[in-house]
Amino acid sequence: MTNETGARRARFDHVSLQYATASGPLTVIDDVSYDINERDFVAVIGPSGCGKTTMLNMLAGFQKPTTGRVLFDGAPVAGPGPERGVIFQEYGVFPWLTVRDNIAFGLRLNANRVSAAERDEICAHYLDLMGLTEFADAYPKHLSGGMRQRLAIARVYAVKPRFLLMDEPFGALDAQTRIHMQNLLLRVLAAERKTVMLITHSVEEAVFLASRIVIVTARPARIKDIVEVPFGYPRAEQLRDGKAFAELRARVSRLVMDEYNAPAPRRTVAAD
Ligand SMILES: Nc1ncnc2c1ncn2[C@@H]1O[C@H](COP(=O)(O)OP(=O)(O)O)[C@@H](O)[C@H]1O
Ligand SMILES: [Mg+2]
Repeated sequence: MTNETGARRARFDHVSLQYATASGPLTVIDDVSYDINERDFVAVIGPSGCGKTTMLNMLAGFQKPTTGRVLFDGAPVAGPGPERGVIFQEYGVFPWLTVRDNIAFGLRLNANRVSAAERDEICAHYLDLMGLTEFADAYPKHLSGGMRQRLAIARVYAVKPRFLLMDEPFGALDAQTRIHMQNLLLRVLAAERKTVMLITHSVEEAVFLASRIVIVTARPARIKDIVEVPFGYPRAEQLRDGKAFAELRARVSRLVMDEYNAPAPRRTVAAD
């Protein structure tokens, strides 16, 4: 399979966003335009605090641009929808539900409702995939941070959204679990048609997973560069060992580091 993608799913069209703060408007996104097509895997990378979560939230339907348009399937995003599954930067689990019921939660909602038998089967599958079977009846407070994040991921995978919005989903995991979760995501993508927007700090992760990398500047987020990743799917662990991988990682790192080295974040107000 190649990186050939299909119809446009999402578009940021000259999007800017300002937050109202005590010291005046803070420009967080500044005239950002790019498309995400069917089956694209777009990684967005940039310095912390630059506006990546804000960008994802606009496509998820939690925030509206100040100017410009965020389109999903041709229409301005009006709010969240079941076709867009969001994995948040911080553990998106319900503390009052067991691990199993957290995974089952979305499968009981109208948009994704399935029969009880199918629900059990899907829960068992994702419990196993995420290494949580033994903890099926435990509550999230009894899980480690990494396990909670795996549960948050399982909840979203279980309802099989066609469009995944992932906000640094593996950031809190130890290095080994992180690699395991990256490979699992590739397996899920190989099995199910999906389009992905992934926010990450990690150049390695972006190059390993994405078909395209959107590099954004220090705040306010502007497009610094868009880099096509030439590797097809499915991808295996050995990809990381190759020369082409190392070269691309170095190139993207340079672009990203430029922004970390930028003298000071560009601001419209003195401080936040
Ligand atoms: N609701 C808000 N009101 C005011 N400022 C905010 C709000 N949310 C985020 N910010 C500020 O906007 C900037 C970008 O935030 P965010 O999108 O979370 O960045 P990132 O995800 O790239 O770290 C940060 O400086 C943050 O402090
Ligand atoms: Mg963020």
